[in-house]
Amino acid sequence: MIKKRLIGQFSHPRGLAGRLAGRIMATRSSNVERNRWVAEILRPSPDARILEIGHGPGLAIAELWTVIEPGSGTIDGVDVSSLMSRDAARRNRTGVASGRVRFRVGDAQRLPAELSGYDLIYGVNASMFWDDQAATIADLAERLVPGGQLVLAYMPPPTSDLPAEAMAGQLEVLFDQAGLTAVCHDTMAFDPPATATKGVAAPDSACPAPGSAAPDTTAPTSGAGE
Ligand SMILES: C[S@@+](CC[C@H](N)C(=O)[O-])C[C@H]1O[C@@H](n2cnc3c(N)ncnc32)[C@H](O)[C@@H]1O
Repeated sequence: MIKKRLIGQFSHPRGLAGRLAGRIMATRSSNVERNRWVAEILRPSPDARILEIGHGPGLAIAELWTVIEPGSGTIDGVDVSSLMSRDAARRNRTGVASGRVRFRVGDAQRLPAELSGYDLIYGVNASMFWDDQAATIADLAERLVPGGQLVLAYMPPPTSDLPAEAMAGQLEVLFDQAGLTAVCHDTMAFDPPATATKGVAAPDSACPAPGSAAPDTTAPTSGAGE
């Protein structure tokens, strides 16, 4: 019963149990490594406009801040949990103090109009909590500038029996339906494996290589990849 309540906290941490869930996400090595891996794949330009959906404790944002700090880039973080919003702001206090890292409490499925014009939108173990994934992905795709990238990473939590490759397959269909191109995914051999599904808001682009935020607009469009 207590375990079940704690597991539920990962979808919307709140109260005392939410603090514990936040602490687990911030310190569990699998989560720390997964967020670091995602930041390495994303590697945006230092001037990029970035949005993370469902940032939780804000580990990936802390990694990306070190990339954009020398430039003029910005990061917006949106999470449905006010507890996680405060926790992530504390963890990223330097970026917040600069005015270039901003957190707001909100629902990925109902984002305000002003959150748009991004070079990169991403989420880490976030999309499985959206009631209508197709509509949310289509909406996020609309918020990218031409050439901008959407990346949704997933590593199955202990409570899930959906392997990461299966999730990536489902997300690739939804990315295609949303009109994104160069749709493919990277796989990382964690235990269990994790995937990062990627798509680009540009015609005729190819799957971006791991570690490259920029799509290759010279090569033919690819299907799934690793
Ligand atoms: C499993 S946690 C992952 C947190 C973080 N991305 C990480 O990997 O450490 C999922 C996060 O998504 C947030 N979340 C769930 N549903 C959401 C929604 N509809 N809109 C925005 N955030 C949401 C939760 O509050 C939680 O912080």
